[in-house]
Amino acid sequence: MKVLLVGSGGREHALCWKAAQSPLVSKLYAAPGNPGMAELAELVPWDGNIAYLADWAFQEGIELTLVGPEGPLVEGIADAFEARGLRVFGPVQRAAMIEGSKSFAKDLMHRYGIPTAQYRTFSDALSALEYLELTRAPIVVKDSGLAAGKGVTVATTLHQAKQAAANILSGPEPAEIVVEEFLSGPEVTVLAVTDGQTIRPLLPSQDHKRLQDGDTGPMTGGMGAICPYPLEGDTLAEIEEQVLRPLVRGLRSEGIVYKGVIYAGIMLTGAGPKVLEFNARFGDPEAQAILPLLQTDLIELALAVVEGRLGELELRWHPGSSACVVMTAPGYPDDPHKGLPLHLPQLPPQQVLYFQAGTRQSQEGLLTNGGRVLSVVGLGSDLAQALERAYTGVKAVQFERAQYRRDIGWKVR
Ligand code: AMP
Ligand code: GLY
Repeated sequence: MKVLLVGSGGREHALCWKAAQSPLVSKLYAAPGNPGMAELAELVPWDGNIAYLADWAFQEGIELTLVGPEGPLVEGIADAFEARGLRVFGPVQRAAMIEGSKSFAKDLMHRYGIPTAQYRTFSDALSALEYLELTRAPIVVKDSGLAAGKGVTVATTLHQAKQAAANILSGPEPAEIVVEEFLSGPEVTVLAVTDGQTIRPLLPSQDHKRLQDGDTGPMTGGMGAICPYPLEGDTLAEIEEQVLRPLVRGLRSEGIVYKGVIYAGIMLTGAGPKVLEFNARFGDPEAQAILPLLQTDLIELALAVVEGRLGELELRWHPGSSACVVMTAPGYPDDPHKGLPLHLPQLPPQQVLYFQAGTRQSQEGLLTNGGRVLSVVGLGSDLAQALERAYTGVKAVQFERAQYRRDIGWKVR
């Protein structure tokens, strides 16, 4: 079967790597893809125009499309493909609102009793500032719309909170913020696939959102991940019962059938697991850590979701652990330096995998071409071995002035 993968990051390279192993795939395409994916798939130039890609897929006879990033999902790529009778793994626009609008997600959680931080939403700066005046720091201010992981301010002073609110709300475009109660505790990512009925959680993982060691420095799109994250006792079952099930059932009762991946960002608070955010897709870098441990055929899984047969499929996993270290360009996240030479070594793929993101092939070889450049994934029989292999992989890369965290997995080691 002809399969198309949409996206160009490390997550999509990992999806492409996994899809390429499926005997069900006769030909793999990636739009727009990246140099790493070019070794596994035919790259289709794409500037983000959804109708164009859907028409191309129809003419090419693409039988299944997997969508990596949130942008196209929130813009309605699944709707456009479905309207042409094409099968697509990824939620339709109304369902992708769980990520596209934090205020929609918070209201949904409120309606269905899903545990999350107390909140208020505002669309004008004056009311937001008046409200903040009555609160106390620490407090959290979030841009309600998509912000590539950079729209959240965990404010330690009211001044900082007010500045964040004013920055978002005083621009020329209409905007909305969510002001949220500050929660504390370890964070875990629980991804689940669903066909709108059956829910199958994937192995829990943990991202590292801050740029520097010890969870310091600015927020980023994610600097590394470990999998599986060792959740205690029944916590995963609790998250399934209190979060995933009411979400999928609640959406269904509102006429929205969610098909694809649900990303639940969870904080394990003293009062139980609480949702920090929902996303409508695999996490990046969580996917790079999770997918190498998935034994089940990704295409078989995606087809079961699309066709509403997930109840017939149990997921199988390889034993052991994985650890992903993200290597970013100097200047990331604000002003990444592009065009730096990059050289990847050959290491045994059962131990170390390289997933590319912001890279470009040139006559002189591979160059950096964005902030998030490379995900290095180590695989091992336990977390310690996975981490050791990931860092062996990192040290073998030639990439001057690369930024990466030296302490991935530090909280569970
Ligand atoms: P989000 O994109 O909503 O997951 O937020 C990004 C990061 O901000 C999370 O991974 C947390 O580290 C932090 N964060 C978000 N919401 C809260 C909250 N209510 N309390 C404390 N930290 C939060
Ligand atoms: N790892 C954070 C995200 O994918 O949104």
